[in-house]
Amino acid sequence: MVPPTAVELPDHDFIVSKPLPVRRAAPKQKGSTHAYGTEKTEYLMDRNIHKAFPVIIRGKGNYLYTKDGRIILDTTTGAAVSCLGHGDKRVIQAIARQMETGITYLATSFFGNNTVEALCKELINGTDRQMARVYLTGSGSEAMEAAVKLSRQYFYEQDQNTRRVSYIAREGSYHGNTLGALGISGHVARRAPYLPFLMKNVHHVSSCNFYRQRQGRETTDAFVARKAAELDAKFQELGPETVIGFVAEPIVGAALGCVPYVPGYLKAMRKVCHKYGALFILDEVMCGMGRSGTLHAWQAEGVAPDLQTIGKGLGGGYQPIAAVLISKKVFDVFSDGSGQFVHGQTYQGMPIQAAAALEVQKIVREEKLCDNVRIQGDYLGQLLKQLLGNHPNVGDIRGMGLFWGLEFVKDRDTKEPFDPKIGVAQKIQELALSEPHNMTIYPGTGTAGGLSGDHVMLCPAYIVTKEDIHHIAHTTAAVVKEFFSHGL
Ligand SMILES: Cc1ncc(COP(=O)(O)O)c(C=O)c1O
Repeated sequence: MVPPTAVELPDHDFIVSKPLPVRRAAPKQKGSTHAYGTEKTEYLMDRNIHKAFPVIIRGKGNYLYTKDGRIILDTTTGAAVSCLGHGDKRVIQAIARQMETGITYLATSFFGNNTVEALCKELINGTDRQMARVYLTGSGSEAMEAAVKLSRQYFYEQDQNTRRVSYIAREGSYHGNTLGALGISGHVARRAPYLPFLMKNVHHVSSCNFYRQRQGRETTDAFVARKAAELDAKFQELGPETVIGFVAEPIVGAALGCVPYVPGYLKAMRKVCHKYGALFILDEVMCGMGRSGTLHAWQAEGVAPDLQTIGKGLGGGYQPIAAVLISKKVFDVFSDGSGQFVHGQTYQGMPIQAAAALEVQKIVREEKLCDNVRIQGDYLGQLLKQLLGNHPNVGDIRGMGLFWGLEFVKDRDTKEPFDPKIGVAQKIQELALSEPHNMTIYPGTGTAGGLSGDHVMLCPAYIVTKEDIHHIAHTTAAVVKEFFSHGL
């Protein structure tokens, strides 16, 4: 075990400075329909109407404080969102300063704003100027919708009779819940109720999942060549002149549980797209903005996309903000063409969103937090493999940076998943969140072919220390071992 090289993290100031009162939670009460300390909403339409949740009243750094006095280590940062942890004083002060100008909202069709422009400059610089412009949105789904429209209009600008109408996306991917973004997605369960509404012009190829798809002792080079051939064949099947672009998450997040691209994959896929004049579109809403150890996941291999979406860690949860990063190639077509993107929403490019995201991004850059993500992420991976690598129900441990997934199987040799009715991932999440573990874990299903398969993800804040990682890995191992020790 190689311990991580020490990273000097500056002391972070959090808005909650006083120590918070803590009292132990009472055990589950007899006759109660839900765990002590959890509450069901009466007015909010929750995603799960019947579930009761711990009520959070404060946040500080890596910790969440419940109404009933528990302290929860936030190892998922929501859904890989709160990359600086909770209550970062610098970000909150930046938001307050913007508030004090009296400008929180401006209509982008009438006015400019220097904070918004400064954020866009920060983002373009962060791509090593591989991308040229930023289109701001309020969520990752909206960013994906905008990317879909930008890519279509890119061809329409050049020829109003363009035959380019189709997208190639991947199975086992999630790109958002609005109809366009869901149409591109390959998340079987989330698509199911809305199938009749979803775009018919989206075609899927397989994901890039070395654990599940490797044939025999296939090398990574041979695997990548097979994926490129599959994409090429899909272009041929559809007619290359009809395809707008290929859309992929470099590291698949919630849908598959941190499944990273195989080395060489991004380059090979971009080559196929460009061979046919189609756009190479990357969705880095979850895996981007430092989460994988470089600011953008594609930077590890230097494979810049034509369009890229970002979100989550962009604003770190301090404001709802996401974006499309636009390459010069795409921007030039708009600039030389109509000069207009036929799209827009009320809440986009708000100075208050930009002030928060700009401060988050400055902190990530100035404090070299991507270095910490790489170092602590490597340590997390090593510990997880050491503690759970031989567990009979842990099929795969994979990830990059502070983005790690564990896939659970009934049988390690056959990789047979558990019956979805058991709800393995969900139950592991609930166990982790309960006393004495008090830790968040992000559950997911559909890992093995869409409807079955269980995984959990760990995606802590970029400010975690070696001690935090030690605690996260050991708690995860304890939870997994406890869960499976009861037999299924
Ligand atoms: C890869 C990816 N793309 C897009 C989205 C949609 O983002 P949002 O939930 O902000 O609309 C998500 C959300 O989880 C995501 O993980």
